[in-house]
Amino acid sequence: MQQNIKRAVIPAAGFGTRFLPATKATPKEMLPIVDRPTIQYIVEEAIESGIEDILIISGHAKRAIEDYFDSAPILEMSLEKSGKLDLLKMVRDTADIRIHYIRQREMKGLGDAILTAKAFMAGEPFAVLLGDDVVYHPKKPALKQLIDVFEEYGRTVLGCQTVPHEKVSSYGIVEGNQLDNHRILKVSNMIEKPSPEEAPSDLAVLGRYIITPAIFEILENTEPGKGGEIQLTDALKVLAQREAVFAYDFKGKRYDLGDKLGFLKAQVEFALRRDDLGGDFKTYLKELAASEFTI
Ligand code: UTP
Repeated sequence: MQQNIKRAVIPAAGFGTRFLPATKATPKEMLPIVDRPTIQYIVEEAIESGIEDILIISGHAKRAIEDYFDSAPILEMSLEKSGKLDLLKMVRDTADIRIHYIRQREMKGLGDAILTAKAFMAGEPFAVLLGDDVVYHPKKPALKQLIDVFEEYGRTVLGCQTVPHEKVSSYGIVEGNQLDNHRILKVSNMIEKPSPEEAPSDLAVLGRYIITPAIFEILENTEPGKGGEIQLTDALKVLAQREAVFAYDFKGKRYDLGDKLGFLKAQVEFALRRDDLGGDFKTYLKELAASEFTI
């Protein structure tokens, strides 16, 4: 069967204030996990999930993202001359992906960023991937799991996982009724960044979505919400009143790259998984843990 979801949007216009000062001149999406920018992991997940065209929402000081996915003739020539063919392939591969860009003029929030993708999506359902959440699954990417749920239900699917109760105020939290498939809920309510007392559950939306195009008209009429920003959660809540919206508890280990500790954990665990680094790095970590390391 042919997959319906072929287009994805990656909003990347935010200021990345939690990673200042690095993000003053370097986009948050270009901070590397080991030796690849975080956005590379996101783009690879999209492609492995069958996505063919990716729209990146770009903004202030984000030129480096466009350069990264562009060809680099001088660098390529130099690598070719010096016979570094593995590196040459790596550099060329990133320029082969069909990536498009649009600028968000004012940082008015994630909902506003998604709205800039309206024309590109041409009335079709589409995927959204946020760079703050990187998910490791050895077999099936998180986005592909969501696409499979969409293929079955034909409506919006929100990628979710349970978060610690004391952390709910960092996320959009969903409430709903569980279906026979225990990983899927029909959403009845959503709250953006609730306090632990107001949170209806601990199930948080974590940076992966398949959304029907009905969202655009709703976003056009969504007033700024929490933090004075146009919140995607507010629009999804309205969508859930008009048509079915499902929350899917996806499988895989998720890293919170928006958080410094989460970012460090991702560095360590992705390095440990690497064939070329994992062994030596593990030995180093063991020695470090056994030593009386002082600051
Ligand atoms: P965040 O709330 O994590 O914002 O946005 P941020 O600017 O990236 O990071 P902090 O909180 O200041 O450290 C979630 C996603 O939505 C995008 C961001 O780039 C990020 O991928 N976004 C947010 C936009 O594209 N435009 C906006 O106006 C706001």
